[in-house]
Amino acid sequence: MSSPSDVPSVKLPGGHMPMVGFGTWKLRGRAARDAVLAALAAGYRHLDTATMYANEAEVGQALGDSGLARSDVFVTTKIRASDASRAPQVLRASLRSLGTDYLDLWLIHWPPRGAESPRLWNDLLQARADGYVRDVGVSNYSLSQLDDLIASCGQAPAVNQIDWGPTRYDPAVLSGHADRGIAVEGYSPLKNTNLRDPVLRRIAAEHAVTPAQVVLRWHLEHDITVIPKSAKPDRIAANLDLFGFALTPEQMAAIDGLAGR
Ligand SMILES: NC(=O)c1ccc[n+]([C@@H]2O[C@H](COP(=O)([O-])OP(=O)(O)OC[C@H]3O[C@@H](n4cnc5c(N)ncnc54)[C@H](OP(=O)(O)O)[C@@H]3O)[C@@H](O)[C@H]2O)c1
Repeated sequence: MSSPSDVPSVKLPGGHMPMVGFGTWKLRGRAARDAVLAALAAGYRHLDTATMYANEAEVGQALGDSGLARSDVFVTTKIRASDASRAPQVLRASLRSLGTDYLDLWLIHWPPRGAESPRLWNDLLQARADGYVRDVGVSNYSLSQLDDLIASCGQAPAVNQIDWGPTRYDPAVLSGHADRGIAVEGYSPLKNTNLRDPVLRRIAAEHAVTPAQVVLRWHLEHDITVIPKSAKPDRIAANLDLFGFALTPEQMAAIDGLAGR
């Protein structure tokens, strides 16, 4: 069992993002509320939702029911590219559903086409200037799309949330984000990984942990924030229990070597 103070955080311009968050995609209705409550009880202090997930209200309800102070939990939501023309209304609806008057992080979910991307980015910057959002970022942007956005207004996103895991490992992508001062947040860390891979099983046995815990710890040791989702309380707790072991350089290299498999 981990306590919130075990979880390191990344310094963003507007605050600190805990490096393990709770993903909520595909969690709906009662199951979403119960899973988020279980995550908060297990010690998660970072929740990841999106307008597209249709569960902001349940996430907000669990946050309220948890009894935690709003300021103790880092809340991220995302705006769809298809909502680019009505960002202020979408933000108001997200805040209302989540039962909060600010977001810790607001992300563009997928890059909108052409000129819509810098236009929407300006709306996010305005929301931050107006105090509704502590930090702003993007998701699913390539390095060249990040450069286009930065060139449009001179301001880099704080975070890029991207599909990440051992088979996607690419040091050039990580150094490209570091060079631009953009924190990488990895999504689908478990779903897109073969947890039966012999390399992961061997390393898990060496630490008496599970392959899923090895994968999540590997993200942290690469300075990547990770946001696993589970509907099961035992997995929710185990996915945060990452601070009783550390991977050796040999183990890190072996996991890096799964790239492209
Ligand atoms: N920005 C984007 O475009 C984007 C895209 C995808 C996801 N995301 C975000 O990232 C979060 C995580 O990604 P994800 O939900 O796609 O995938 P994930 O967290 O990698 O994997 C979730 C799947 O793994 C299972 N699982 C969870 N813990 C496990 C464990 N310890 N051992 C074995 N299986 C385990 C879950 O099943 P059970 O629930 O049955 O445990 C579920 O089927 C999402 O929930 C969402 O918040 C963002």
